Amino acid sequence: MRTALEPWRAESIGLVPTMGALHAGHLSLIAAARAECSTVVMSLFVNPAQFGSSGDLNGYPRDEANDLAVAAEAGVDFVFAPDASEMYPTRFQTWVEVAELGAVLEGAHRPGHFRGVATICLKLFNIVRPDVVYFGQKDAQQVAVLRQLIADLALELELRALPTVRDRDGLALSSRNVRLSPPERTLALTLPRALATRDPESARSLLVEAGLDVDYVEIAPFDPPVLAAAVRVGSTRLIDNVTLEEDS
Ligand code: PAJ
Repeated sequence: MRTALEPWRAESIGLVPTMGALHAGHLSLIAAARAECSTVVMSLFVNPAQFGSSGDLNGYPRDEANDLAVAAEAGVDFVFAPDASEMYPTRFQTWVEVAELGAVLEGAHRPGHFRGVATICLKLFNIVRPDVVYFGQKDAQQVAVLRQLIADLALELELRALPTVRDRDGLALSSRNVRLSPPERTLALTLPRALATRDPESARSLLVEAGLDVDYVEIAPFDPPVLAAAVRVGSTRLIDNVTLEEDS
């Protein structure tokens, strides 16, 4: 990756980290990178370290051939798609923990998740050495954790957070949506509707009344603050959030 990027270092390099199963949410990040940087790198790596159970990891949707075609079509210059054994060789033992921001909300329900995210992102940043990295506001806590990592460890890069892309019915696009049956998908629409109240109590009542299993629905003090929720619809866990103060 470093050798391939060497000729392009004089101009700006943008990195879009993904776990593949690309959808229009990912494409919005690629489009922003394409518009703002001379070279666009996308990483495609289903990071085992950020999954709690091997069931969730093994069931994660994968379609590398299609992802490569979609990425090329979207104007990605380089796809970095390492094997798990390359990223985590046998004696791998160094982990990055964003102690406070990584322990609340998603972090409280998925212990070790943000340690896995922070570690892989720092490693990807070091391999690609991008000027700008692109993330989705869909994962607002991921953005908050990574901004903290970048500040705390004095990384020389800029993080750009892009708005959540939704289906026409309001459901935030997610690689996990393919697992929803038609009735589950209808039920899942309660999530964006509940968040649209922008009030934690009203949102919780709507979710509970719909019979959804609520992990949390809380105001998160990120920048900007968001109303964030995680629910389980059947065996699929969905997260979403809405911005409470329009920042940009
Ligand atoms: P993944 O879930 O593939 O998401 C890759 C990027 O796409 C993330 O920045 C995510 O916030 C963004 N994204 C997902 N759905 C979106 C939507 N509906 N609208 C806008 N952006 C959306 O997030 C990860 O992978 C991983 O944790 C990763 C950062 C790659 C580290 O392994």
